Amino acid sequence: MRLLNHQPGELQEKLSEYLKKDALYKAVFEYTKSRFEKANHLPAHNWSHAYRDTLNAIVIGEAENADMAIVLPAITMHDIGFLYGASGKTHGAVGADKLAEYLKEGNIQYSDDAIEKIAACIRTHKGSMHNEKPESLEAKVVADADLLEKFGPFGVYQNIRTFTEFNWALEKNLERATQIFNLTLETGTGRRLAEPGRKFVANFYNQLAEAYEPYQEQE
Ligand SMILES: [Fe+2]
Ligand SMILES: [Fe+2]
Repeated sequence: MRLLNHQPGELQEKLSEYLKKDALYKAVFEYTKSRFEKANHLPAHNWSHAYRDTLNAIVIGEAENADMAIVLPAITMHDIGFLYGASGKTHGAVGADKLAEYLKEGNIQYSDDAIEKIAACIRTHKGSMHNEKPESLEAKVVADADLLEKFGPFGVYQNIRTFTEFNWALEKNLERATQIFNLTLETGTGRRLAEPGRKFVANFYNQLAEAYEPYQEQE
């Protein structure tokens, strides 16, 4: 099952065009890649995740006519909160609060206005996962690009990696079978792309719950 119908290489080509024409974004991309590649305590919130989300954001942002000069740096840096030791619950806010400092460390000079817009996207990127309300179109695109990783085969793959990162028990993992039905996307494009992957995730975790029954400890 695929959520994106693009040919291999197609989105990478679009990404290299953006990197070519936006020097500030290129600096963000390279700096963020190097920061996450050094952070090997993050098996889920790693560079591969940021990279897939970035390609998701190209698809959703272009279809929604969002300002890609804001969407791209925001999605690439959306999980920087984890580089500052934030928890799952707080990492959006921590990432937004640390953004100016992070950019300074990377010697990347965005205007105050752009920093504010990018920070707003980072702050609310959990969207319906954390009852956050992304306000701008760009923030909605960023939330959806990240939420798309919760659907379809990557939804299962990334969820298991996240549970490894946070060292959570199997029982908590099984909650995803029902939780996946409570997730709502912010844009029409996000909804259209995610929907076919919702049942896949529910089915997998229902099957896992069934397989787990013989091993379950009795109270
Ligand atoms: Fe996140
Ligand atoms: Fe993320």
